[in-house]
Amino acid sequence: VVGQAPAGMSGDGALQLAAEDLHEALQDPLLGALGFLNEVMARYPDAISFAPGAPNPALLDELDVAAQLDRCVAHFARSRGLSARAARRMLFEYAPSRGLINDLLAEALRRDEGIDVPSDAIVVTVGAQEAMLLVVRALCRAPDDMLAVVSPCFVGIAGAARLLDVPVIAIDEGEHGVEVAAVEAACRRARAGGKRIRALYVAPDFSNPSGTVLGLDARRRLLELARREHLVLIEDCTYGFTAAPDAELPSLKALDATGHVVMLGTFAKLCLPGARVGFVVADQVVADGGGTRRLLADELATLKSVVTVNTSPIGQAVVGGMLLEAGCSLAALGRMRSRTYRHRLASLLDALDRHLLPGAAAVGVSWNRPAGGFFVRMRLPVPVDAALLERSASQFGVLWAPMSSFHVGGGGHDELRLSCSYLEPAEIEEGVGRLSRFLHATIRREDAHRDAPTGR
Ligand SMILES: Cc1ncc(COP(=O)(O)O)c(C=O)c1O
Repeated sequence: VVGQAPAGMSGDGALQLAAEDLHEALQDPLLGALGFLNEVMARYPDAISFAPGAPNPALLDELDVAAQLDRCVAHFARSRGLSARAARRMLFEYAPSRGLINDLLAEALRRDEGIDVPSDAIVVTVGAQEAMLLVVRALCRAPDDMLAVVSPCFVGIAGAARLLDVPVIAIDEGEHGVEVAAVEAACRRARAGGKRIRALYVAPDFSNPSGTVLGLDARRRLLELARREHLVLIEDCTYGFTAAPDAELPSLKALDATGHVVMLGTFAKLCLPGARVGFVVADQVVADGGGTRRLLADELATLKSVVTVNTSPIGQAVVGGMLLEAGCSLAALGRMRSRTYRHRLASLLDALDRHLLPGAAAVGVSWNRPAGGFFVRMRLPVPVDAALLERSASQFGVLWAPMSSFHVGGGGHDELRLSCSYLEPAEIEEGVGRLSRFLHATIRREDAHRDAPTGR
């Protein structure tokens, strides 16, 4: 019936929009990937899900939100010379686009990593996701600027670029993260084509989805390349806190002597994702032709004022209170959680070894062994796609994320990502048992198909 209605109208006269008239990003499988995973999880509520990279909600059962708000409000009153009443009202009003807890963040960065930036160089964002959107928007001028990403990568960065019509160049990740020579080659190719790679998105610590860590020497070489190529490095520090205390590496921002790094952070994994608080450190100077000099953070705050206006003051005060409680140290906040996550990751790797290791390699099943982060990447001898996920969920009650969702230029069609963060150790054990049964059945089935006479 709908097909018989005039264009732009459904049978009952209501406006009908054509998908091809909407923004192209909506047809991009990258943007659909998260929705698809959530939809599968909703259809199989009893399945054990290794899909979400979300923090374990049980870690927040004891969170006293009111006490954290009070702590942060007391800080607002002290640091701004306000009455208790005026400080409390800050929670309920519009707030500066730049943020309310910038001083705490600047102090934490100085204390933890020796990163010395004024609080004005920080913008508090609605999660790291908004920071990605603002940074890509500010840095890339159409039509010649491109964003390079280390692929596979977090869907949110490529999605933000697609949304902004900024072309994305995928630089395939090596075993130890981004390969500096590959970035250099990509810059050269772009230049030869009259384009410019304006920025590179890189997550040096336990990247999502691969779990790779960029070594110290590679970090230094990447910074040198950034200087030579006038490249901005957009550093995503989300999972750095999960490193063991003796294995922590300095962030690119801490090593950056020339202002080539814009740093993104989030409280989603350190504290709670529901607060939706992240931040961006952008202390680069922006000069205009008239001699006016502003910080890149000023420009980002201007953009933010027409995107989300400000980050929720209540959300900021909850994480601000948690930061104050941890002695104004992101590292201390991280240490309170990182043991738990390393333990979860060890449980996952141990369960995989016990359930799968005997015989895995012989049938083409393998996985990496990251020392931190939330994710394990597994290779299978069969195509890993939506149909396989559906079978895994419906027949074996176990969910995971196809790696192809994280590949920007295509790829990852024989891999999946397992996340340890959302599950309790007992669930991890049960989930890996289910995964093992699923893999045995799937690989046997494939073998049977291959061996079956074709009849031709
Ligand atoms: C690498 C990475 N960066 C950023 C984010 C998003 O952070 P937020 O929830 O603060 O937007 C995630 C969330 O999964 C992530 O994995």
